[in-house]
Amino acid sequence: MATGPEAARAATGPEVDLGPLGIDGGGHLLIAHALARLPVGSPLTVLGGGPHLPVHLRAWARERGHRVEGNVVIGGDADHRRLAGARRAGATGDVAERAPAAWGLAARGAIVEPGAPPLVGADLDRREEVWTELAPKLYAQAAAGQWDPATAVDWTPPELADEVEVAVVQVMTYLIENEQAALAVPARFIGRIHPHYREVVQFLTTQLADEARHVEVFTRRGRLGGRPFGVSGAGGRASLLTLLDEPEWPTASFLLSVLGEGTFLSLLSFLERHAPDPVTARIAHLALQDEARHVAFAMAHLSEHLRSDPALRYRLAAAVRRRHDALLDTAGLSDHVHDALAILAAGEWSHEAIGRGWTLVGSLQEEMNEARGRRLVRLGFSEHEANELSALHTRNFM
Ligand SMILES: [Fe+2]
Ligand SMILES: [Fe+2]
Repeated sequence: MATGPEAARAATGPEVDLGPLGIDGGGHLLIAHALARLPVGSPLTVLGGGPHLPVHLRAWARERGHRVEGNVVIGGDADHRRLAGARRAGATGDVAERAPAAWGLAARGAIVEPGAPPLVGADLDRREEVWTELAPKLYAQAAAGQWDPATAVDWTPPELADEVEVAVVQVMTYLIENEQAALAVPARFIGRIHPHYREVVQFLTTQLADEARHVEVFTRRGRLGGRPFGVSGAGGRASLLTLLDEPEWPTASFLLSVLGEGTFLSLLSFLERHAPDPVTARIAHLALQDEARHVAFAMAHLSEHLRSDPALRYRLAAAVRRRHDALLDTAGLSDHVHDALAILAAGEWSHEAIGRGWTLVGSLQEEMNEARGRRLVRLGFSEHEANELSALHTRNFM
């Protein structure tokens, strides 16, 4: 038979000793911790806790739905009832087919206590519309691949022939407006993607940061030689505005990232190979690496979307045709840009060099068309349709 303190504890039931800690100093955590280990309705004797314990204990217990008799708390079931109907916001490690608005901003896998208003406006809430298994990996690559324009580039001003520097500045003028479009399009959709698909949101956020850097480096290169910027062609701007008007995420992502940024991979590679100065070559190289990720992400999420909804293919094709029709009366790529690319690639003002630059730009456009066709085939378009759609893509490249 037990004697001494053991026997006393058996007679009075479980206890918790707060020592000098009052309820207002965190003592309630010790009480809640002890109650959580007892069945609902069990008495718990509270010891210590300072001179105000009886008053504070009653107030705290009432608020939490427990009863108090003297210094004994009888645990209620309010906490259990409050979360009884709660569900988890999916599983921590896996994404749901659909993310309800009621999950709101909850972390994936969190217990969602009912009672808060639903998340409004995140209408891209289905896995098939936004998700790709590659999203976590591409986000990690993007986070690791961020570079600082101040240190990643040696900004020593190049010494180029006047005509060549003017051509480089014209190309930069063109690149900047394209980068602004590439920033604005995903920015319009980020707030509409349900945060349950957080790696997609995170990836697109890095994409915005990438485009912001591209705007910066092309601006810095444009100003490096002290020349004013070139022409922003009406046809090019009209073409870019059609991207901003695209109301649906899959079609906007397809037009911008598969067709536009896909075409820019060829352009940036061309600029890296044929730049007349190291600064232009370097920034084209850095932007090219970022753009390859943007294209990879769009190809991945559209491939997965097309697998679950093959009819999406018709919507994508229709978007290309619609955009082409809307731009029928515009010039597409301005002569200013086309000629500047030829002079930039020529690198000097002689008829041999200009002829070479001109041929290179022609080859570039063929290469862009072929690469676009290959990407469309990878998405499941027939060879015939891929060729047709690639030919309808804006002459402005993006
Ligand atoms: Fe970019
Ligand atoms: Fe991009």
